[in-house]
Amino acid sequence: MLNHAGHPVRRAKLRHYLMCPPTYFDVAYSINPWMDPSGHMDHALAVRQWSGLVDAYRSTGHRVDLLEPLPGLPDMVFAANGATVVDGRTLPAKFANPEREAEAAIHAAWHQRNGILYGGGAAQPAVAVNEAEGDFAVLSRSILAGYGFRTTPEAHRELATLTGREVISLELVDPRLFHLDLALAVLDDERDHIAYYPDAFSKGSRRLLAGLFPDALIASELDAYAFGLNTVSDGLHVFIPAGARQLREGLAAAGYWPISVDLSELIKGGGGVKCCTQEIRPARNTRATSVGLAPLLPDERVERPAPFRLRASEEDSSFQRDVREEHHIRRAGASS
Ligand code: ARG
Repeated sequence: MLNHAGHPVRRAKLRHYLMCPPTYFDVAYSINPWMDPSGHMDHALAVRQWSGLVDAYRSTGHRVDLLEPLPGLPDMVFAANGATVVDGRTLPAKFANPEREAEAAIHAAWHQRNGILYGGGAAQPAVAVNEAEGDFAVLSRSILAGYGFRTTPEAHRELATLTGREVISLELVDPRLFHLDLALAVLDDERDHIAYYPDAFSKGSRRLLAGLFPDALIASELDAYAFGLNTVSDGLHVFIPAGARQLREGLAAAGYWPISVDLSELIKGGGGVKCCTQEIRPARNTRATSVGLAPLLPDERVERPAPFRLRASEEDSSFQRDVREEHHIRRAGASS
């Protein structure tokens, strides 16, 4: 259905996200061109900005679960890199850089414990190097996958085998846009509407994208370098940095509702909105997802957003069991 402006009516779908508080976030080493360990980063501001993103998700109805941050892993806040969950199947990451290697097992353990939330089974460790949703963009049926800097083409095959989905490989060529999620954003994962910055891709991949997505929004270099493509969309709301001006206008003209998020301090680590957000895509016919169970933040220094109403069906025992086992996940608002 088209609206009066001639674009499809946009609809938000409730999402389930996994995020990690920036408690130990730091620019302690440099594994991408944005990271300057000698530069200044305001940690308190980073925490406030990240909390603002969590608030924005929760206030639009999405479920956010939290991974407990660990000291010595300053990039853990970039939770999108830890695992990919598609149709309830989980491929844990295998990081390209030794600095982040230890994060993979933490994500794998979280999914092992909480897979019941989304109809997931036991996950096998990854064989090939993959940085999860940093390089995997999930569409309605297929998955777009980046390679060139971090994730390897072997991992694309691994994900295809695990999910049974077609995985379309795209070559990244701009070192500043070293992950696919810095160069391309999924705006509507039911209609496969995307935005991307063509110059981030090799000639062959540009041709492929132009052929597959003739209605894509084309981002400028300015948009891309402002982390404008490192966005999260629920199908209607697009959580995007204010700096990506042109892209925001394009989104609004296409019927989306851009929501400004400022993550200036996290960008100093080379990550923005999408990098902080791992999406958990449940197995089809799983009821246990996208519901308002508010987890307790594991770190009290992080401001806790207002609790969110429970919308899960009360008799859903799988939730209740998990909630009791997981002390940092709390059932909130159930009595109101
Ligand atoms: N410092 C992190 C790294 O270089 C940034 C990760 C960005 N994450 C993303 N999903 N693009 O690995």
